[in-house]
Amino acid sequence: MDIIYEGKESEVVIPYFGQQSRFFKFFYDVISKYIKKGDIYAETNSGSNGNAYMFAKNGYRVIINDKGEYSNCIANAILSDDDKVLSTRDDIATFLKEYSHSYLDRASVFAALMDELGYNYNIPQKFDEKTLQTIKKYKSHLSQLNKKNIRAYKIFNDDLFDYLKKLEEENIVVDAMFMDFAWPWRDGSKTEEYETSANILTNVFADGYNKVDIWDKTNVIENVLKAVRQAQKVSKYVFLSNQSSNFPTPELLEVALLKNGIQYIERHTMLTNATNEDNLNKCDFFREYLYVIEGGNLKNEL
Ligand SMILES: C[S@@+](CC[C@H](N)C(=O)[O-])C[C@H]1O[C@@H](n2cnc3c(N)ncnc32)[C@H](O)[C@@H]1O
Repeated sequence: MDIIYEGKESEVVIPYFGQQSRFFKFFYDVISKYIKKGDIYAETNSGSNGNAYMFAKNGYRVIINDKGEYSNCIANAILSDDDKVLSTRDDIATFLKEYSHSYLDRASVFAALMDELGYNYNIPQKFDEKTLQTIKKYKSHLSQLNKKNIRAYKIFNDDLFDYLKKLEEENIVVDAMFMDFAWPWRDGSKTEEYETSANILTNVFADGYNKVDIWDKTNVIENVLKAVRQAQKVSKYVFLSNQSSNFPTPELLEVALLKNGIQYIERHTMLTNATNEDNLNKCDFFREYLYVIEGGNLKNEL
């Protein structure tokens, strides 16, 4: 499939750096040809969770993972029955305390601040009236989504390598593993915005989390190869997503995959307008690449 089309908006409408909502329909159209309803659809870096939500809504058993606190709060807020957060810092500021005990509250605070302050922000010392209203708006949106009773099969909050290892140890075989990493920018520099969503936000409410190392030019290819190989061990199909705005560019990535013995069976692309979500304004159009890679010949015992 090689198409140009307008993506539909995600049902999960929240600011999230790196969310691929304009491609969700494209992802669905490609991936649903390889798996059938009731099969296990998993992700390594779920981000805004809009893609996972769409697959869950369409009858797939969805496994979510993301190391970032914001992402994990969204996942639990919209796709689980369990809204109580167990781990909370003792030294939390009073104005934040009332938001600390539920995933829904935490996610709404993060979304509101991102909405008002952009992708790179520090938590302010207090919330003004406007922020309180924005928090309410996201709380209402996320709880509406939760009320639809669409549930994840499993939710993890791990480094993707630990998560893949866990699946292997627990003998969980997934039918599709979708991987959309925190890719560096095309010039090879790491995307600082993920430092905010994955690291700064993590220290607001919760302690006891490890720092997320955001990949850059020096380690991204090696990590991608390692992740794909690890994913192949627990997946029937691996769907690797990359965009023309990232490093490695699709051309470099393809050579790296092929030179290292990872032969994709199909490559699907979608060209789209590059306004709105990345705010880069570097190029009017950019292209999504979705590589389909076969995993092991695995049996799903679940
Ligand atoms: C490009 S975003 C994913 C966006 C998602 N596909 C969407 O449409 O919303 C990459 C995600 O990777 C997460 N991440 C970064 N490093 C990670 C790691 N080592 N393990 C797991 N997640 C990680 C970030 O928190 C971020 O949410």
